[in-house]
Amino acid sequence: MRLKRTHFIGDITEDLIGREIVVAGWILRRRDHGGVIFLDLRDRSGILQVLFEEGINPEVHELADSLRNEYVVSVKGILRRRPPGMENPKIPTGNVELVANDLELHNTSPTPPFQMDEDLSEISEALRLKYRYLEMRALNGHRPFVFRHGVNQRIREFLDSKGFIEIETPYLTKSTPEGARDYLVPSRLYPGKFYALPQSPQLFKQILMVAGFEKYYQIVRCFRDEDLRADRQPEFTQLDLEMSFVTEEDVMTLVEELLQYLFEKTLGINLEIPFPRISYSRAISEYGTDRPDLRYDLLLRDLSSVAKESNFQVFLTALEKGGVVKGIKVPYHFSRKEIEELTQFAQNLGAKGLAWMRYTKNASPDEKWSSPIVKFFSRGLLEKLEELFDLKEEIATLFFVADNFEIVHAVLGELRREIAQRLRLIKEREFRFVWVVDFPLFEWDETENRIVAVHHPFTHPHLDDLEILESEPLKVRSRAYDIVLNGVEVGGGSIRIHRRDLQERVFKILGISKEEAEEKFGFLLRALEYGAPPHGGLAFGLDRLIMLMLGCKSIREVIAFPKTQRGQCLLTGAPSSVRVEQILELHLLPGWEK
Ligand code: AMO
Ligand code: AMP
Repeated sequence: MRLKRTHFIGDITEDLIGREIVVAGWILRRRDHGGVIFLDLRDRSGILQVLFEEGINPEVHELADSLRNEYVVSVKGILRRRPPGMENPKIPTGNVELVANDLELHNTSPTPPFQMDEDLSEISEALRLKYRYLEMRALNGHRPFVFRHGVNQRIREFLDSKGFIEIETPYLTKSTPEGARDYLVPSRLYPGKFYALPQSPQLFKQILMVAGFEKYYQIVRCFRDEDLRADRQPEFTQLDLEMSFVTEEDVMTLVEELLQYLFEKTLGINLEIPFPRISYSRAISEYGTDRPDLRYDLLLRDLSSVAKESNFQVFLTALEKGGVVKGIKVPYHFSRKEIEELTQFAQNLGAKGLAWMRYTKNASPDEKWSSPIVKFFSRGLLEKLEELFDLKEEIATLFFVADNFEIVHAVLGELRREIAQRLRLIKEREFRFVWVVDFPLFEWDETENRIVAVHHPFTHPHLDDLEILESEPLKVRSRAYDIVLNGVEVGGGSIRIHRRDLQERVFKILGISKEEAEEKFGFLLRALEYGAPPHGGLAFGLDRLIMLMLGCKSIREVIAFPKTQRGQCLLTGAPSSVRVEQILELHLLPGWEK
C-alpha cells in the first residue's frame, strides 16, 4: 500500500482545511463534469467528496477516469472549503471537499447487483443475503451491528459491575432438552457416538453454581433444529445468566435493572421498573396468549353466562359441548367488507365463524345494536352485554368466538393483534415489558400422548404445590418466569431444582426411567448431590431483543450471516455436500462397524 490512510472520513473537520490528508474507502458515486471527476468516497465512518481537476498529473487523472462504483482506493489531496452554494447540508463533511493530487487503486468491482445508496428493503432478501457483504457495506448497513456491539458492551459493563463472571461452556456436548430437535455432530473417534450442539448452556450453568461461582453469565450461541419463523434461527444468541442463593424476586429485579441500564445507555429511553407481572392463566384468559402485548387494550371477556341465555344456536351448541364464548370490544365501526376479512382471518385460524355486533351508544333503543344475531338476544341480555364489556364508548364493534377453550383463546388472541395493526393502535417506539409468572410446570402433549415440561425439566415446582406433584401434576405451578416485550417472548428463566431427590421425582413424572435419567443426566444428578446451592437464572434471546430495540421486522436483520427460513446460508451455500471420505471417516455409512 503506497498511500496510507491518515484520517477516517468521520474525523474530518473544517480544522483540517488546507492540510494534505489521505483517505481510503469505496466509491459510492462518480460523476464527470467537463473534465473534473467527482467521487463520493465512503469509509465506515462517513462520505467525502473528492475531485480530480484537469490540471493534475495526467496519469492520476486517467486512473481516476477509469474508476467505477465500489472500486477501492486511497486518495491523497488537500482539504478545502467548498465554493459558496456548493455545500451539502445532508452529510457532516458537506462544507469541505478533497482536491486530489494522488490516487492508488487497490481493487476493482463488477457492477453491484443493487444500488448501494438506495433503500434496499425493496430488493429480494435472497439477493441481499447472497451478497450480504455488499448489503452491509451499503449506506446504513453497519447500523444494526454497531448497535449490537454497543448492546454487548453495555451488558458486560452492567453485569461486571454486579459481580458476574463470564464463563464459556462447550459447544460439543451432550443433548440438553429445551424442547427442540438437536443438531448432532458425529464422533470420528467413537464410531456410532454423537456430540450434540447445545440448545442452551442450561446444565453447564447449573453446574457452575455447584462449582461455587455464584454469579455467571455468557453471551452464547445456541442451536435448535426447529421450524424457522421471522423471529427464530437455527443458531441464535442468548444472554444467559445464573445466580446462587436467590429467589424469583432477585433474578427479576436484576434483569429489570439490566434492561433499564441497557435502554438508557443505547436508546436514551427510560424504562419504568418494576415491570408489571401477570399470571399465565390471566395472560391466556385476557390476551389469549402467554405473550401478551400490553401496548393496546382489546382484552378478551367471557360472555358465556350471557350467551347461554340467548337463543343463538351457535353459542348454545359450543357451550353444551363444554366450550366457552368470549369476545373483544373494539371502539370502531367496521364495514361489512372488513368484517368479512376478519371472519376469514378467524376461520383460517380454526374458528367456525366470527359473530359480531355493532354498537352505537346514543342511537334509539332499536338501533343501538345492529347485527344479524341481535335478534337472538333479549333487551335484558343486551344490557348485560353492555355492562360486561363496560361499553362507555360512543361506537364499538364486539366480536365473539364460540368454541373449545384452546380455539377461542388462540383465535381471539390473534384477532386482537390483527385489529390493533389494522387500526394502527400501536405506537412506534413504545416498549412494554411484562413478566409472565405462575406457569404450569407440566402440560399434556397431545401428539406424544405424555406429560412434558412447559419450560425444561430442571424448573423448580411452586413450593405450595409440592404435595400434589405426583397426584395432580398438571395442576402444579412452576417457579418459572418469562419476560415478554411487545408481544414477543424475549427471555425466560426459573428457580431450579437443586436437590437430587426432587429432580428424580420430576424425571419420574416425565416418564424418564431411572436408567435413562442416569444415562442422560447422571452427571447433573451427581453434581446436585455434592452441595448444590439454591439457584436460578434466565436467558434472553439476544437477537430478538435487539430486533425489537431497533424496530426490525425480522431477526435476520440483526444477524450478520443469517440462515433463510429454509435453514440455508445463501452466502456460503451451507448446508452442502461433503466428500465421501469424510462420511466414511465419521462412520456414517452402513457397515461402519467394520
Ligand atoms: P428458552 O428456551 O426460553 O430458555 O430460550 C431463551 C430465549 O431464547 C430465545 N430463543 C430463540 N431466539 C431465536 N431463535 C430461536 N430458535 C430461539 N429459541 C429461543 C427466546 C427465548 O425466550 N435454558 C433456558 C433459560 C433458563 O431457564 O435460564 C432457555 O434456553 O427469546
Ligand atoms: P351461521 O348461523 O353459521 O350463519 O352463523 C351466524 C354468524 O355466526 C356468522 O357471522 C358466523 O360467522 C358466526 N359464527 C359461526 N360459528 C361461530 C362460532 N363458533 N363462533 C362465533 N361465531 C360463529
